This record gives sequence, C-alpha cells and structure tokens, in this order.
Amino acid sequence: SVQDRSPQHELVVVANRLPVDSRTLPDGATEWVTSPGGLVTAMESVMRTVESGAWVGWAGSPGEAPDPFDADGMRLYPVRLDQSDVERYYEGYSNATLWPLYHDVIVDPEFHRGWWDSYLSANRRFAAAAAPVAAPGGTIWVHDYQLQLVPRMIRDKRNDVRIGFFNHIPFPPVELFSQLPKRNSILRGLLGADLIGFQRESDTLNFVASVRRLLGYHVDGTTISVPGIGAAPVREVQVETFPISIDSAAVSALTEDPEICERAAELRRELGDPEKVVLGVDRLDYTKGIRHRLKAWGELLDDGSIDPHDIVMIQVATPSRERVEAYRQLRDEVELTVGRINGEHAPIGRPAVSYQHHSFDRREMTALFMAADVVLVTALRDGMNLVAKEYVASRPDLQGVLVLSEFAGAADELRAAVLVNPHDIDELKAAILRSLAMPPEEQEDSMRSLRHQVMENDVQAWAHHFLERLETSQTPDSEDAPL
Ligand code: ADP
Ligand code: F6P
Repeated sequence: SVQDRSPQHELVVVANRLPVDSRTLPDGATEWVTSPGGLVTAMESVMRTVESGAWVGWAGSPGEAPDPFDADGMRLYPVRLDQSDVERYYEGYSNATLWPLYHDVIVDPEFHRGWWDSYLSANRRFAAAAAPVAAPGGTIWVHDYQLQLVPRMIRDKRNDVRIGFFNHIPFPPVELFSQLPKRNSILRGLLGADLIGFQRESDTLNFVASVRRLLGYHVDGTTISVPGIGAAPVREVQVETFPISIDSAAVSALTEDPEICERAAELRRELGDPEKVVLGVDRLDYTKGIRHRLKAWGELLDDGSIDPHDIVMIQVATPSRERVEAYRQLRDEVELTVGRINGEHAPIGRPAVSYQHHSFDRREMTALFMAADVVLVTALRDGMNLVAKEYVASRPDLQGVLVLSEFAGAADELRAAVLVNPHDIDELKAAILRSLAMPPEEQEDSMRSLRHQVMENDVQAWAHHFLERLETSQTPDSEDAPL
C-alpha cells in the first residue's frame, strides 16, 4: 500500500505555512526565510526537540510545491497552492472571511460561495499530504483557522492515529459564529479531532456553546459526545484551554550575548540618545490596534504631554497579507498617519515615530526589546500575542514596562502588565504617560511578576501539556456522520 512505502513520522504538524517561506532570487535560485507570525515562532522551537517529526504546509508562493526536504532535524512536506487557491482559500476564505469574523468583526467579513469551495479543496490537499506520512498509531497535530476541516478529513483516511487541533486565534461568540455560512461543516470538521485546544477559556466556552447550540450535541464539562452513524457508539472529543507561549529561556539567553547588548545601546544612540524609547512590534494587521496607538501617540505630541526630543517611538509593522483590501487600506492609513506625525513633530534628523515596514532577525528583535523602556501591545483582539511574552523574556534586568490590551489572550496571564482598553484613547494616553513615569522599583516589581509567569510557562511546557492530553484522549473506534 501507499502507506508502506511512505515515510513514517511519530508526530506530524499540519499548518497553512511551513516554518520557512521560499523566495525566488533574481538569478532564479531559491532562498528560504523564516515565515511570519506567532504560530511559526512557537511551533518551530517545539519541533526542534522532537525526533522524527514532520511539518506539512505551504511554502508561501503560488504554483508547484518544492519536493519534501529536511530542515532543523525535521522533514518538511510542501503543499501546493496555485494562484486561485491563494486568492480564494488563503486571501479569501481564510483572511477575508474567517479572520475578521473570529476577531470580533473589526472589519466586515466577506462571504463568497466560491471561496468556500476553494477552502474545502485546499483543506483536502493538506489532509491528503499529512495522512500518509504519520506512523501507525502516530499523532497528527493540525493548526489554526485555515485548516478547520482537516481533522475530520484525516480521520476519514486514518482511524489509527490521534488527531489534535489547536486554534491560534480567538473563537468567536456563538452570535457571531452563527453568521458563517457552512458553520456546521466547520464544527464537524474540527470535531474530527480527539482533542481541540484554544488559547483562552473564553474561546473554549464559545466553541462549546456553538457545538451545543448549532449541532445539538451533548456536552459534559470539557467532553463533547459526537454521535456516530446509526447505532455506532458515540465518540468523545475533549476541548480544553492551552495558552501558548514562547521559547522563554532561549529568548532570555540572547540578552546575555555581548553583541546584542552592544546593538541595543547602539540603537538608542542611532535614535539620538532619547530619554525614553517606546516600541510597538506587530504584523501590519487591523487586529493589532496600530491606528489606536498612533492616535494616542499623535495626541500626546499635540498636547505637549511628550517632547519628541526626549521620547521616540519605534513602530515595527511587518508586511502581511498585502493583497487583501483591508490590509492595503490599513497600510495606507498607518503610513499617512506616521508621515503626518513626523511632519508636525519630528526634530530635523530624527523621527518622532520610527516606522519599520520589514522583517528583522531574532537578534535584532531582542536588541529592540532591550532598548525599549515601554512596549505597547494594544490589540483590539488577539489570540495570544507573543510579542508581549518576548518583551518580558528579554528583560532579565527587570526594567521596562509592558502596556497590554485586555483583548489580547496574554492579558489572562500577564496580570502585572499595565492593562488597557485600547478603544478608550484617553485611558491609553494616561497609561502611556504613567508607564513613561514609572519609577524603577515599580518596574521591577511588575517585571518580576511577569517574568515569573513567562519563564515558568514556556512553549515546550505548552506543547508537552497538549500532547500529553492528546495521548490520554480516547482512541477512535466509530464512524462519524458525513460532513
Ligand atoms: P501574530 O501571530 O498575529 O503575528 P504574535 O505577536 O503572536 O502575532 O507573533 C508575532 C511573531 O512575529 C513574534 O514572534 C514576533 O517577534 C515576530 N515578528 C513580528 N514582527 C516581526 C518582524 N518585523 N521581524 C521579525 N519578526 C517579527
Ligand atoms: O496565529 C498566527 C497567525 O495567524 C498564523 O496562523 C499565520 O500563519 C500567521 O499568523 C501569519 O499570517 P500569514 O500566514 O497569513 O502570513
């Protein structure tokens, strides 16, 4: 059979993106660069510690998929997405329908029937790539909103493997989720897993409420009973909360590298040795509250509450989903606003807001965190927000202030941050001023408590906890009703 000839991996990760993106260089050669986003940051460090692991995902460009290859001790299996899949499955259904719907409709979700067809067929392709490479009795771990149908599709091919699903983004309240055409297919797709994990308790409760209300399935605490066909026995699916984290020790260790320390000092010199440096690091996404942050910053400069000679803001805004309309609009607005703020307030030869629309390597990112007196995480909705945790891990000196939106998943754990409602611009301005004026002892108290949380609960513990739970979930033994 095909399975006998296929490589056998004990753990197979399935995600929309591989941990690396392929780029074609002008001379036609291929270059591989780290893919953007929190999922890759987290899972890449988990997979480095796994033996005989595999990762199934898209290599980031439309067209033929490269052949499978080894990287960082795991086998990568690229999945092909052609131009129309990129437009309809990735940019369309994933990022113009599901993304805004799951993030509290900050922009209006778009519903198009053609996009659903493409989502279905792309999910089939990921499932078909993953199913044959898992060892008998192995584990397949499916990630995120782009692949919600995959758990069920894999179960239909392989009833010997354990299937886990983790959603990196929020799961919306049933009132919002109910808007989604094909909502029940999505729920049934997810329920193909043995264990479904979410970031926050509220996401888990939202999902369970949707299953109960829309499918009418019996739920007992965190256990959902999925009825089989006819008289087949019921299959039980566990639903639980697993807040994701970072490779805390690795991030913290980078701060001891003398080159990175020197780079942090140099960054401050390059900015003109301001008294304070304030930093934002986000994918350029409307969920991140960048507009709200710039509004608050602009008003603080207008009011004269902050002097641009003393205080500089750096906004790193990583390019993201650049062909999706809402992202183009956001980029235009953000760049217009930054230009206005700098035009009105920046001293000659030095920015009021230093705007960086590109990627940095991990070392440079750590230097930025070390150089920042205040980090602003003002997401309007965010599954977790790893930037918040990376800042904390980068401050073993116990200095620096984290301003954190209560709408980011990280706010459930990082209670010692300066918590804000980013919609309340006056509150945000006051929080920024309070953070800038916070005495070193108070910074130390808060950072100590934050570090305790982040260093104790790292991404290795998160993955271990998830996989251990999956291990003890029941083995499949029945056939579900059709999707
Ligand atoms: P999301 O998953 O929505 O992108 P997170 O905050 O959870 O948001 O994760 C973002 C990850 O991407 C973090 O690890 C962050 O350090 C990284 N990152 C963000 N911007 C850049 C950039 N310009 N260069 C390199 N890494 C970046
Ligand atoms: O949860 C983080 C995430 O949304 C991933 O699913 C996604 O891969 C990443 O951010 C970046 O987005 P994209 O893959 O669309 O560039």
